[in-house]
Amino acid sequence: MKQIISLNVNGDSFEVTVSPWDTLLDVLRDGLRLTGTKKGCGIGTCGVCTVIADGKAILSCLTLAIECVGKTITTIEGISNNEALHPVQKSFIENGAIQCGFCTPGIVMTAKALLDENPKPSDDEIKEALAGTFCRCTGHVKIMEAIKKVSP
Ligand code: FES
Ligand code: FES
Repeated sequence: MKQIISLNVNGDSFEVTVSPWDTLLDVLRDGLRLTGTKKGCGIGTCGVCTVIADGKAILSCLTLAIECVGKTITTIEGISNNEALHPVQKSFIENGAIQCGFCTPGIVMTAKALLDENPKPSDDEIKEALAGTFCRCTGHVKIMEAIKKVSP
């Protein structure tokens, strides 16, 4: 049975009608038209659907929308400041960590969650954070460089 829930996304509150089995990913993309979050495998293996919920990177394809009531959700659309890109986004561009860009929103959100919690991660900590994400174009070398350049 469908129900109306309230979701806090990128600082705004939205009322959306969902079924109990609707994923956060589908509600973000189809319900709220926040299509920056990409849909890849849909089963938790590629990481392109990563968003931040209450400060933690989560896979929105494995998260039910109804689980997110009362949480603070941030998507790729919510991290830039008006026209200014987030430092992680800028670093990805400057360090060649983007090619087709399909993985980029999810990996940027993964990197942001890591750096918010641990501003100076070690290589191993970056690798661990990136373990659930795939980039078929660049691999992770350029992406790691870009993340390290944002560290103080
Ligand atoms: S679409 Fe969520 S992990 Fe692939
Ligand atoms: S830039 Fe193409 S999949 Fe990562």
